[in-house]
Amino acid sequence: KTYKVGYFIGSLAKASINRKLATALIKLSPENLKFSEISFKDLPLYSYDYDADYPPVAKAFKAAIAEADALLFVTPEYNRSIPGGLKNAIDWASRPYGTNSFARKPSAVIGTSPGAIGTAVAQQSLRSVLSFCNAPQMNAPEAYIQFKPGLIDDQGEVTDPSTETFLRDYMEAFHIFIARVTSVLPRDA
Ligand code: FNR
Repeated sequence: KTYKVGYFIGSLAKASINRKLATALIKLSPENLKFSEISFKDLPLYSYDYDADYPPVAKAFKAAIAEADALLFVTPEYNRSIPGGLKNAIDWASRPYGTNSFARKPSAVIGTSPGAIGTAVAQQSLRSVLSFCNAPQMNAPEAYIQFKPGLIDDQGEVTDPSTETFLRDYMEAFHIFIARVTSVLPRDA
């Protein structure tokens, strides 16, 4: 069975190392996972003043999440948390009250940083937000990727064989997780 995976890249930077990681992950994924990026860069800053009438950009954003069978968050760590843009996007998706886009959506979190702990603190922060938003999360494997120059080339090829194997296994585990969650929780349940 084929599953649609919507992925978020937490960074808005052109040279984002997390965008490189996402490209590599897609290449290493099982064939029956189909990917599309869910962009949040054009969302205004959220306020509940919008709840009565979401702007088209926010409606399209929520529709893109609804389209996906599962969500993959590939995010940097900024100041020991997730980037503000990503948090803003999650706040948009979680509302208006009663239309939380994350409810029962199988999700996984991964990220890379030049630092030794490889976004571990940001991932814990994101997991806590996603828990509140009722997204079933893949608990294991965890993936804290320390980015060294050249680890992923411009074509998205991973140059270190052990990291490549690890990332391939991570995506295989995500595929199994999506299949398991969607078998017990049909999308319209
Ligand atoms: C960082 N960086 C960083 N790294 C880290 O491991 N922990 C942290 O808390 C932070 N904090 C932080 C704050 C801000 C505002 C910036 C711009 C950067 C460094 C960060 O990991 C590095 O810039 C990566 O390149 C960010 O990933 P993207 O945006 O290139 O995908």
